[in-house]
Amino acid sequence: MKDLNYFEISNIIKKEIKNINFNLEMQNEGRIINVFDGIVRVYGLYSAMYGEIIEFIDNIIGLVFNIEKNNVGIVVLGDYKQLLEGMKCKGTGKLLKVPVGLELIGRVVDTLGRSLDGKGKIKTKNTDLIEKIAPGVIFRKTVNKPLNTGIKAIDSMIPIGLGQRELIIGDRNVGKTSIAMDIIINQKNKDIICIYVAIGQKKSNIVKIVKKLEEYGAMNYTIVVASSASDPAIMQYLVPYTGCTMGEHFRDRGKNALIVYDDLTKQAWAYRQISLLLKRPPGREAYPGDIFYIHSKLLERASRVNENYVRKFTNGKIKKTGSLTALPIIETKGGDVSEFIPTNVISITDGQIFLETNLFNSGIRPAINVGLSVSRVGGSAQSQIIKKLGSGIRLSLAKYRELESFAQFSSDLDEITRKQIESGKRITELMKQKQFNTMSVAEIAILLYAANKNYLDDININKIFDFEKQLIKYYNRNYKTLINLINNNGKEEYIENFKKILKIFKEKYR
Ligand SMILES: Nc1ncnc2c1ncn2[C@@H]1O[C@H](COP(=O)(O)OP(=O)(O)OP(=O)(O)O)[C@@H](O)[C@H]1O
Ligand SMILES: [Mg+2]
Repeated sequence: MKDLNYFEISNIIKKEIKNINFNLEMQNEGRIINVFDGIVRVYGLYSAMYGEIIEFIDNIIGLVFNIEKNNVGIVVLGDYKQLLEGMKCKGTGKLLKVPVGLELIGRVVDTLGRSLDGKGKIKTKNTDLIEKIAPGVIFRKTVNKPLNTGIKAIDSMIPIGLGQRELIIGDRNVGKTSIAMDIIINQKNKDIICIYVAIGQKKSNIVKIVKKLEEYGAMNYTIVVASSASDPAIMQYLVPYTGCTMGEHFRDRGKNALIVYDDLTKQAWAYRQISLLLKRPPGREAYPGDIFYIHSKLLERASRVNENYVRKFTNGKIKKTGSLTALPIIETKGGDVSEFIPTNVISITDGQIFLETNLFNSGIRPAINVGLSVSRVGGSAQSQIIKKLGSGIRLSLAKYRELESFAQFSSDLDEITRKQIESGKRITELMKQKQFNTMSVAEIAILLYAANKNYLDDININKIFDFEKQLIKYYNRNYKTLINLINNNGKEEYIENFKKILKIFKEKYR
C-alpha cells in the first residue's frame, strides 16, 4: 500500500476538524466519594450552589452545605444508608421550599411540610422558600399593639407586642413549654394564627402537647411543625425555618401570626453536630463560627410590617399591616444565662421571660423572676388600662425584693417597711397562676386594681387565691357589658367602675 504523503495527511486532518460537531451540554452531576453519618462527599457538581437540592436515587434528596476545592459536602434529608460510594447524583438548581397556606392549620407536619398526624396528604396551593431575607427597616412598623398572653405576670409587667421577639429562658422543667402553650391557648377567637415548632423533643412529648392544644380548641388556629429527637440533625436544624416561612406567609398577607420555637438550644446542638461532621472548625463550646447567625437570621424574620409590604404580596388588594411574633425558648443549665447560646439569643431578642427553678420549687408558678425579666418594647405595647394599673405592681414588687431579706425580722421593722413587705407578699401570691387558666384583659385589670388600692391588705395570704377566684366569679356574673367593653378597647376610663365593684364584693366576701 502506498504511503500517504504529508500533504494528504494534513488535508484529512483539516477536513476532520471542519466537520467536528461539539455538542456542548451543561451537566451538574457528581459521584459520591464517601458517605458518613448523613453527610455525603461528592466529586463533580461543578456548579453547585449553597443550599441547592441534590437528587440521589429513590427520591432521596440532600442539601449542599460545604463547597470545597475538590468536593461538595451534602447533608442528606432522609435515609442516607441506601447511598453508596460511586453512586451518581444530580444538581437540581433549586432551593428548598415548603408548603404554605391556610390548609396547614390544624395539622401536624414535619420539616418538609409532610403530614405527621395521619389525617392524609396536605394539599396547599402555594410553596415558599424555607430561607428568606427578613423585611427591611423601611417596611417595618412600630410594635405598639399588645399580644395578650392571658398570664397575669406577663401582661402586667413584661408585656409582649405584635411583631416582638420575646425569649422564654430557664432550666429544665420550670414551665417554659407551659407558658408558651398557655399563650397559644389564649389566642382563641383573637384572629391570631399560631405555629408551634417542636425541635428535638421526644415524640411522646409532642403528642401530649398536640392533645392538649386539641382539648382546649387551639388546633383550630394552630399549625404544629415538629422534628423529634429521633429525626436526623438536619431536620431538627431546618424545622424552625419551616415554621417561620409558614408564619411569614400569613404576615405578608395582612394577618397576625405567633410562632413558638421550642427550643432553640436543641437546634443549636443539631447545627453543631452537622458542622462537626462537615469538619468545619469548632469555636467556643465546639459550636461553629456562624452559630450566632443561624439564630439571628431566624429571629430577624419576626416583625410587624406596614401596608406597603403587604400590598406587594397581595397585588395591592389588601391594605393592612401584618405581624409575626416570635417566642423562642432556650434551656439553661444551673440558671446560667451567661453561657454562649443563652447570651447570643438574649442579645438578639427584644426581651426575656426568665424562669427560675427556686421559684418553681417554692410554689411560685409561673416561676417568673420579675427582676431579671424585661420587655424592651414595654408599655407602648400594652392596653391602656393594664399599663395604668400595672406600673404600681412592678414598683411594689421591686421594693419587696429589696426588703425581702429583712422579712424574717418583721417585729423589729418600722411600719412603712412592714407594710411594703406585706403588700409584696400579697402581690407575689396574686401573680401565681395555674396552667390552662389564662385571663382576659378585663379580669387582669380588676385584680391589678385590687392590689394597687390595697384591697388585699386585710386578707390572709393563704386566702388570696380564694379571694381572687370569688372576685372573678362575681365580676363575670354581674358585669358582662363592662367586661366586654374593656376586652374590646382596653381604655383606662373604665377603671372608675372598679371602686364600686370591689366595695360591694368586699362586703359580700367577709
Ligand atoms: N403555672 C403552673 N402551675 C402548675 N404547674 C405548672 C405550671 N407551669 C408548669 N407546670 C408544671 O411543671 C412541669 C414542667 O413544665 P414544662 O414541661 O412546661 O417545663 P419545661 O421547662 O418546658 O420543661 P422541659 O425542660 O422538659 O422542656 C409540668 O408538669 C407542668 O404541668
Ligand atoms: Mg419544654
